[in-house]
Amino acid sequence: MSLASSPAQPPSDTNPALVWVPKASAIAREAGACLREFFSKGVVTEYKGDVDLVTIADRTSEKLIRERLAAAFPDDGVYGEEGTRDRMEGEYRWYVDPLDGTTNFAHNFPQFCVSMGLEHRPAGTAHDKDGTIVAAIIYDPMRDELYTAERGRGAWLNGRPIHVSRIAVLAESLISTGFPSRKRHDSPNVHFYQEFTLRSHGVRRAGSAALDLAFVASGRLEAFWEFNLNPWDTAAGVLLVEEAGGRVGDFAGGLFQLNSQEVLASNGLIHDELVVLFKDMFAGRNISPIPTPQEFARKRMERAAR
Ligand code: IPD
Ligand code: CA
Ligand code: CA
Repeated sequence: MSLASSPAQPPSDTNPALVWVPKASAIAREAGACLREFFSKGVVTEYKGDVDLVTIADRTSEKLIRERLAAAFPDDGVYGEEGTRDRMEGEYRWYVDPLDGTTNFAHNFPQFCVSMGLEHRPAGTAHDKDGTIVAAIIYDPMRDELYTAERGRGAWLNGRPIHVSRIAVLAESLISTGFPSRKRHDSPNVHFYQEFTLRSHGVRRAGSAALDLAFVASGRLEAFWEFNLNPWDTAAGVLLVEEAGGRVGDFAGGLFQLNSQEVLASNGLIHDELVVLFKDMFAGRNISPIPTPQEFARKRMERAAR
């Protein structure tokens, strides 16, 4: 993992020089502790659709975050997955996923998190236009890992600066994706999953998009993509990746938009290669053949000799 040595400044979650991270980190930690408590006891699962789950933990966590945000940042809007729509005309808006990875959580699989991303929407921003994401907090309660960022000021894991990985080719990358729980039959992603699996060290499908993005930011993964995510899944992770030196966009290499239903995040170095592959697959073109182990070894030596 790309974790730089101890910073001279206080850890990011307590650093008073940061505007939002200290208070919002405390909220995410409290919500994460609440999830951990539910997780240790086991939870009753309800169904939103045939496989789309929600638990009492999702709702309890969102209620806690909603109340704490209202107390800490009384003018800010809150847009939460479990239905919160508070102060939507505010200049700042928190996108909250109170439990990202509900299916894992319900199956006792310890990969889930709390995700909070803050968007700045200056007066006059059209309702269907994005503002700027300015702060990000993702908390993984099972590993006690807190990822934080503020725009222009860097990204941190438990108070230490993080950076995306330096791997420069897809063939040597570990990447990840996810699949929707609703409308699974409509998703083309299994085809992309197959193609990327054959062209990389592997594609993980760990079940928490926010943590996938945090893992790209911290250099544990080289890239992540998914179709049809929502702003509460992506707002925080996208800023983390950008502030850790990576790149985020749509599948065509264009700008990322909170409602675009496409996210492609990477360490930057393999981004163009991914975009070309997406383009060829969408166009139904014969994409370049996958190299044999011998061809791969030769290409690797050529790259090293350059
Ligand atoms: C889900 C997770 C999953 C992704 C799904 C999301 P939820 O969020 O992020 O990794 O593949 O598309 O809906 O429902 O667990 O908050
Ligand atoms: Ca989610
Ligand atoms: Ca959720």
